[in-house]
Amino acid sequence: MPLLGVNIDHVATVRQARHTDEPDPVWAAVEAELGGADGITFHLREDRRHILDRDARVLRETVGVKLNMELAATDEVVGIALDLKPDQCTLVPERREELTTEGGLDVVRHRSRVTQAVHRLREVGIIVSAFIEPVAEQIEASAQIGFHAIELWTAAYARAKGGAEAGRALDDLRRAIDLGRKAGLDVHGGHGLTYRNIGPVAAMPGFGEFNIGHSIVARSIFVGMREAVREMKRLIDAHAPRDS
Ligand code: PXP
Repeated sequence: MPLLGVNIDHVATVRQARHTDEPDPVWAAVEAELGGADGITFHLREDRRHILDRDARVLRETVGVKLNMELAATDEVVGIALDLKPDQCTLVPERREELTTEGGLDVVRHRSRVTQAVHRLREVGIIVSAFIEPVAEQIEASAQIGFHAIELWTAAYARAKGGAEAGRALDDLRRAIDLGRKAGLDVHGGHGLTYRNIGPVAAMPGFGEFNIGHSIVARSIFVGMREAVREMKRLIDAHAPRDS
């Protein structure tokens, strides 16, 4: 069964809207765990627009399930990850003006910087994953660089207008999963996944983990984090291929 990593960044987004101390993303992580989350994911951005260094530290001390830190391959934040030692680091692209992570990391273009970061993180025992688009050359480069896993960018599927476009995006993901697994990589998925669109993706054989944030945090406003996570977990389990 694919694991569910719950991204709690947007709980911190609400807190930072007032630069106060509530709602606390650490509380959200506790509630997500109680709702059945297999992992907690956070993104320590260079501009600290939502998650702060204090959050990362307290999450490391309190989260009992897999802790996945998303980060750009910069010296500053890689240094923080080396001290923090989350279970997993997912390398993502970062642009200051973007609303959220737009597109995958171009590991081909940034190969030397990414390789350095991967080696430093691997050395201290952290699982390292590359958030990439479902494109053959990105997958092959990720395997050569030494990533343990890839997280396939699912936003093209999530944003598809109509069945034909969604079908093409799903085909791209299917091919990418196949290539990734053949190259010895674990395959994760994330970005833009919601209660409405998770079904066909969860039904694909080969995904080991999904990282989902905005949709779960949005629902948690109305039903609470514990229930929102329970509902997403139930949907993933209901659609997952029987032998996974
Ligand atoms: N995976 C990665 C690598 C991300 O950067 C994000 C967004 O922070 C997510 C998953 C979660 O995306 P969403 O908030 O759209 O569920």
